[in-house]
Amino acid sequence: MQELREKTAVVTGAASGIGRALAERFAEEGMKLVLADVDRGGLEEVAKSLEARGTETLLVPTDVSRPEEVDALADKAFAAFEQVHVVCNNAGVFSGGNSWETPIEDYQWVLGVNTFGVIHGIRSFVPRLIAQDCEAHVVNTASMAGVTTMPFVAAYNMSKHAVVALSEVLYHELTLSQTKVGVSVLCPEAIATRIDDAERNRPDQYHNDPASAAPNPAKEVVANALSETVRGGLDPSVMADRVVKAIRDRRFYILSQEDGWRRCCNTRLDDVREGRNPTFAPPAEGE
Ligand SMILES: NC(=O)c1ccc[n+]([C@@H]2O[C@H](COP(=O)([O-])OP(=O)(O)OC[C@H]3O[C@@H](n4cnc5c(N)ncnc54)[C@H](O)[C@@H]3O)[C@@H](O)[C@H]2O)c1
Repeated sequence: MQELREKTAVVTGAASGIGRALAERFAEEGMKLVLADVDRGGLEEVAKSLEARGTETLLVPTDVSRPEEVDALADKAFAAFEQVHVVCNNAGVFSGGNSWETPIEDYQWVLGVNTFGVIHGIRSFVPRLIAQDCEAHVVNTASMAGVTTMPFVAAYNMSKHAVVALSEVLYHELTLSQTKVGVSVLCPEAIATRIDDAERNRPDQYHNDPASAAPNPAKEVVANALSETVRGGLDPSVMADRVVKAIRDRRFYILSQEDGWRRCCNTRLDDVREGRNPTFAPPAEGE
């Protein structure tokens, strides 16, 4: 899809970080926007700044882990703008720790938002994108964690591997069905956002009682490492630039350009290809 002007984009997780940057970049392209997030206050702030620049904006507070709320998001988007051309299933959260000590609520929360959020986005939007029979594009936010594995991030790694797999399957299906709908999977490296404070917007149904949880010392170590990594991360606008280019080029994989992450991913693929045991080789600082 070359021309984005006057088209409509839906972005989940739009109140912060990469989602906000996507919304701002789409607004610069002259698109109309449907912004979804659990953070109503954050959404209002983003909408105010976009509307001040003349962007037509619809706010839909949405918990993407709930299928009925994502259905309602699609209903409202199509009711307001008749057609939708870009859908970014981007909302995501992080929680770390040893896999066997991670509370079940953490698995349910991370998989509920990161994986089921994307599943719901696809089920609610793709049939309508196909039916409207014009060029459209779905962008699913995974991570470089979706093409690599690291210790102490089981739920996050699993959730993002699932998004990569689901996006590849969707790509094959949309291609075989000869639809006008494209798909990309966004795999960011470290980006300077608030993902290290994901707990701030944890829905009630996924709350766990820290007092009754098993001790999980790795959780704090990972949380501190994530904060440091994110603080030194790229500006989220870099992701927005990559996404707009991928939509225009109909490119599927939007991968990190950094050597460290590419090596890490290639090492894993070599392990699989050669039947080796998994190599622990995270990106080195500055690599
Ligand atoms: N920041 C990074 O380093 C990085 C790296 C790789 C992938 N990602 C992915 O990028 C995406 C965006 O995260 P970010 O880094 O911008 O973090 P962020 O915390 O700045 O933004 C995430 C947004 O998602 C929203 N959200 C959380 N739970 C939700 C729910 N149930 N329903 C709807 N919205 C919800 C939050 O309120 C927040 O506004 C996520 O999928 C994340 O996994 C981030």
